Amino acid sequence: MALLRPVTDPTKTCLTRPLTPHTTFDTYRGKISHNDIIGKQARDIVTTPKGVKFRIAFPTLEEYIVFVRRLVTPVYPVDAATIVSLLDIHVVPNDRNAEEQEPVEVLEAGTGHGSLTLYLSRALSPSPRAVLHTMDISPSHSAHAQKVVANFRRGIYLPNVRFNVSDPGTWCREQFSLRKGKPFLTHAILDLPGPDEYLFDVMRCLKPDGVVGVWCPSVSQIMVSVGKVKGSGLFCERVLEFPGGTGVGAGLRAWDVRPALIRAKLKKEVEVVAELTPPVSSPSEVLSEKAPVSEAFVCRPTVGDRLVGGGFFAMFRRKSEDDCNHSTTTAV
Ligand SMILES: C[S@@+](CC[C@H](N)C(=O)[O-])C[C@H]1O[C@@H](n2cnc3c(N)ncnc32)[C@H](O)[C@@H]1O
Repeated sequence: MALLRPVTDPTKTCLTRPLTPHTTFDTYRGKISHNDIIGKQARDIVTTPKGVKFRIAFPTLEEYIVFVRRLVTPVYPVDAATIVSLLDIHVVPNDRNAEEQEPVEVLEAGTGHGSLTLYLSRALSPSPRAVLHTMDISPSHSAHAQKVVANFRRGIYLPNVRFNVSDPGTWCREQFSLRKGKPFLTHAILDLPGPDEYLFDVMRCLKPDGVVGVWCPSVSQIMVSVGKVKGSGLFCERVLEFPGGTGVGAGLRAWDVRPALIRAKLKKEVEVVAELTPPVSSPSEVLSEKAPVSEAFVCRPTVGDRLVGGGFFAMFRRKSEDDCNHSTTTAV
C-alpha cells in the first residue's frame, strides 16, 4: 500500500489499496493506475489525468491505522503506543538460545480494527518465541483485522499473531485445561464491553507478576473492575486517564505550523493569511491576486479536527502465592 500526498494540499492525503497491476485508485481529483505507482520510490510523483500531482510515501504505522478502512473504532495510535509502553513487554529478539527460554505469550481481546494488535506485535517482533493471541467475538471483525495487519508493510508484524474468534473467558478456560493448569501469559489487555467479566479467567492464565490491562471509555467501568478484583489474586497497580486530543490520541494536540504568505489589502478591511501550499481554506484565507506579499508562519492548534482517542486504562498485576498469604487492606 502507498500513501499519496497531494503536492499542493496535504489535507487530501489518501491511502491506496494493496498495489496490484492493472487496477486503478480513485483520488479526490481523478484516477491513478497502480502501474504508475509500482516500482516507484518514496517521494516520487504521480499525476492524475486532471493534472493533480501526488507525492508517493510509505504510510507510517500511525497514518496507516488512521487511513485504512475500518469496521470499528480503533485504539488511536498514540494511545496504543502508550498502552504497549505501560504494559512493559520485553522479548529477546532472535536469541540463539531462544528455544531454552520461556515464551512470551500475550492475550488481546477484542481484536477490533487491529490497531492495538499491530502495536503489540511490533513490541513482540521479531522474536520467534513471542506470541500474541488476539480474539474477537465477531468473525467479520477478526477477518478484517487480519487483513489490516497483513497489509501493513507486507505483513511484517503478522508472524507473531494468532487470530481467534472467541471470547476471552472461553479461550482462557480452554487453554488453561490444555496446558494442565499451568499459567502461561505474561501480559493481557482487554478492550471490549464488560471487561470485568473476564478478569478471573485471564488471572488464572497469568504468570505471577504478569499484568492485565483494561481499556475503557469511562472511569465507572474501571471502578467495577477494581471492585471485582478485591481479595483475589490480582491487585490494581495504577489507573490512568488518557485525555484524548485532536488527530492522534493520548492527549496530544496537533498543531498547524508552516510557512505562509501574508497579504495586506490596501483598504485594510481584511488581513489575510494563506499557506504556500494551501489546504481547503475559509473564504477569509483566500489570497487576493494583487495584494503585496510578506513571509510569516502559521502556528496554531489545528482546528476542525475531530476529537479522537482518550479513555481510562487500569493495570492489574498477578500476585504470587506468597502475596496472597500476606494480603493487606488499606483503611479509608
Ligand atoms: C473497541 S473494539 C476494539 C478495538 C481494538 N482494540 C483496536 O485497537 O482496533 C471492541 C471489539 O470487541 C469485540 N467484542 C465485543 N464483545 C466481545 C467478547 N465478549 N469477546 C471478544 N470480543 C468482543 C467487538 O466485536 C469489537 O471488535
